[in-house]
Amino acid sequence: MKKIMNHPLIQHKISIMRDKNTGTKEFRELISETAMLICYEATRDLPLKEVQIETPLALAKSKIVSGKKIAVVAVLRAGLGMVDGVTSLIPSAKIGHIGLYREERNNDGCVQLKLEGPSQNFSPMRTVQYYAKLPEDIADREVIILDPMLATASSANVAIQYIKDSGVKNIKFLCILAAPQGIANLENTHPDVDIYCGALDEGLNENNFILPGLGDAGDRMFGTK
Ligand code: PRP
Repeated sequence: MKKIMNHPLIQHKISIMRDKNTGTKEFRELISETAMLICYEATRDLPLKEVQIETPLALAKSKIVSGKKIAVVAVLRAGLGMVDGVTSLIPSAKIGHIGLYREERNNDGCVQLKLEGPSQNFSPMRTVQYYAKLPEDIADREVIILDPMLATASSANVAIQYIKDSGVKNIKFLCILAAPQGIANLENTHPDVDIYCGALDEGLNENNFILPGLGDAGDRMFGTK
């Protein structure tokens, strides 16, 4: 299942993020706020249980979330910016991290590795995994993966496979922008994973960046370029 959000507030915030003149501080705030709004939709199916509560005036039968165990997993780096927004809605969620980056090539077509180490892992689309730390009881939890950009879905597929290999059965993927190619790739590879996406863009450029997009979310969030 995929859900493209069309809420006016989300569209408004994404428009400001797309603007190249939007600065780092505002960009970070908007990523967090948009993640929170998308999370609102993604948690619509949380199970409830009835409780009895004493209001100042009477006894009331009311409902609370029935204690479903959730973990959010941020895909580094850019997914970090979504954690605050999501955990403000689900404060009991445990938080995991998976470090991934897309391999870059120089003009000779040579691979330029930014990091070396035993944890490297190459997907067919050459996503490099350099870190992973998940909650110990992740297999007992529903997992919400956070990454603002779904371009080719190479990173998403690596993250999802890693989480599935850790025993997780129920996974949702939250992103702010997606390219149609990324949605199709993720749906084909992991049809059981629900996708919640702020906006669907037109496509990818020759470097696999989402168009029109918002640039490199990690660089804009952390001011690294
Ligand atoms: C970006 C983005 C996603 C990935 C999307 O990360 O945050 O993780 O690319 O592209 P894909 O769908 O084609 O895999 P990047 O590799 O730039 O790393 P960073 O977040 O550390 O900048």
